[in-house]
Amino acid sequence: MRTQVGIIGAGPAGLLLSRLLTLQGIDSVVLENRSRDYVQARIRAGVLEQHTVDTLTAAGLGMRLHREGLEHTGIHLQYPGVRHTLDFPSLCGRTVWVYGQTEVVKDLIAAQLDGGPPLLFGVSDVTPEDVDTDSPRIRFTDADGVPRVLECDAVAGTDGFHGPSRALVQAAGGRVWERTYPYAWLGILADAAPATDELIYAWHRDGFALYSMRSPSVSRLYLQVDPAERVEDWSDERVWDALDTRMALDGWSVNRGPVTEKSVLPMRSFVSSPMRRGRLFLAGDAAHIVPPTGAKGLNLAVADVTLLAQALVRLLQDKETDLADSYSDRALARVWRCTHFSWWMTSMLHTSGDDFDAELQLSQLRRVCSSEPAARELAENYTGLPLDL
Ligand code: APR
Ligand code: PHB
Repeated sequence: MRTQVGIIGAGPAGLLLSRLLTLQGIDSVVLENRSRDYVQARIRAGVLEQHTVDTLTAAGLGMRLHREGLEHTGIHLQYPGVRHTLDFPSLCGRTVWVYGQTEVVKDLIAAQLDGGPPLLFGVSDVTPEDVDTDSPRIRFTDADGVPRVLECDAVAGTDGFHGPSRALVQAAGGRVWERTYPYAWLGILADAAPATDELIYAWHRDGFALYSMRSPSVSRLYLQVDPAERVEDWSDERVWDALDTRMALDGWSVNRGPVTEKSVLPMRSFVSSPMRRGRLFLAGDAAHIVPPTGAKGLNLAVADVTLLAQALVRLLQDKETDLADSYSDRALARVWRCTHFSWWMTSMLHTSGDDFDAELQLSQLRRVCSSEPAARELAENYTGLPLDL
């Protein structure tokens, strides 16, 4: 088998990269070790920056997004007694969209299987080789157990946090930065109409709570919990009661309904540098993880592959190496900005039980809710900064 770009991993990063390359006349093959059903069932975050929506739309993937996605003009920031709305258009001229990452992945897979480049599910033993040369290859075993070799001009490591690509880059010298936060999120999906127009980010002494949604009849809610917490210890009743307490506001209440999914998500930050070794380029979760409080994970992956697609077109069509050479630095500038914003939102909203910390957080929240420059800083980061910083 031969292709121009061998792509490892069919998450949003790998699938969108393949799509962007196809539109520029570059062929690719996507190799995924899980099944299509598994990939399409993963529940992930759901806030898309303006840039992400524009990129998906320009790539011909905006049909269902524009029909079923919900455009949001702001968020509510809450602390006891106060629910303040940040209006994004007036603060920074942009909006965000709520459309589950699961739906983005379904749309990408449907487009790929409808006449797009090959997408192989259920492969194993995926091993990139000779990435320091101009003709790397990927060895793998296909879904029928047959060993195969994919010869390529470049390899994209879009294989998430657990894939093999990052280790290969690190083996040639590199650095990793990591922060594990002392809390986790307990997330539920519920068949209940959202009781709010905008997402609510709520500070409470018992811990942070987030009210999000997937559609006019499905809510997505999160509670800050201890990372050691077991999901079995959280009955639906206990989750709803905690949400009621942490989001309490006079004359308002959370809408309850059947809970269809419940899980505990760890909160951590991780950055791996550089994002390239020779002809192997990392993008998305393979190179970085952010805690979900800033809603940046998917948007960062989309920004990475937008830069990477430009770099690969230039490398393989124009035979110019400038964008390939600058890819890692350009991508990492944005990664660190989003890592900082995600850390800042996380630190402002998650309680530690320490009273001094609580007063600092409340002071910061009051500042964001009363000062236009402070609110604008949040709004600009939340809705997405320009591709190049
Ligand atoms: N071989 C082939 N595929 C692999 C391998 C492997 N050895 N290891 C992992 N993969 C696949 C995973 O099964 C997954 O489908 O790579 C894909 C990586 O996809 P994601 O984890 O979704 O990562 P990415 O595409 O970078 O998207 C980033 O996902 O985790 C969220 O918050 C994150 O929203 C962000 C987005
Ligand atoms: C979600 O809807 O899943 C969601 C929204 C906002 C976040 C994180 C997750 O910050």
